Amino acid sequence: MSAPPNKHKPVTAPDFLSARSRGAKLTVLTGYDYTFARLLDEAGVDAILVGDSLGMVIQGHHTALPVTLDEMIYHTRCVVRGTSRAMVITDMPFMTFQLGPTQALESAGRLVKEGGTHAVKLEGGERTAEAIAAIVRADVPVMGHVGMTPQSVHRFGGFKVQRQAEQILADAKAVEQAGAFAIVVECVPSELAAKITGSVSIPTIGIGAGSHCDGQVLVIQDMLGMYGDLRPRFVKRYAETGTQIRQAVEAYCRDVREGRFPDAGHSFQ
Ligand code: KIV
Repeated sequence: MSAPPNKHKPVTAPDFLSARSRGAKLTVLTGYDYTFARLLDEAGVDAILVGDSLGMVIQGHHTALPVTLDEMIYHTRCVVRGTSRAMVITDMPFMTFQLGPTQALESAGRLVKEGGTHAVKLEGGERTAEAIAAIVRADVPVMGHVGMTPQSVHRFGGFKVQRQAEQILADAKAVEQAGAFAIVVECVPSELAAKITGSVSIPTIGIGAGSHCDGQVLVIQDMLGMYGDLRPRFVKRYAETGTQIRQAVEAYCRDVREGRFPDAGHSFQ
């Protein structure tokens, strides 16, 4: 968060707010399992988002809509076990909060009690403000999510940049008013993200929203070059791990088939 980050002190929701007031950029990546959570935590990321994007990158669906609350709880538990500093934030999947504040609070409660998450994220703005407020009243930190909200993919007609500036700004303000500690702003023009960041007092975490947000989030499989089904323009690929994994597996298959593995060094005498 501040550079260099404190390697030992766990990151909390109030730390997000103080980072914004200091002008320190926040780093968030998605994570869905223990191995990745450990690597991300050791690398100093401020928060790991157990995103419902796992429906696509882990489960192979075309959208996140089929993901269940039980699946989110399972993945959250795996991530929490791999984390000592990063804050863990879990997405509330489709139809676990849309019925209203009571359903939202019940779902968030399960993510905290059974999953061990530190905070929850839910999509929407004006239309989910009451649900956010109910969860916040129970002292569970909430991250909002406005702009291109992936659970609305069918209404949007695809994963498309959202440009309804007035509505998106109103959504961001509603999320802030409802008591959220931060907001993901996804796939909106940079100017609009800058305007939102200037209009609210909580940190904005951008994805496909330019450089004027208080922090950034990416899907880990995207930034490591592991997931090729979609290649959004906003993703910077920091590694080509997919290619490396394919090459390693090809080498293993060759070695086994041609009798080079296991050799004496990898066998017991
Ligand atoms: O589900 C997810 O991974 C997300 C991020 C892309 C923000 O919502």
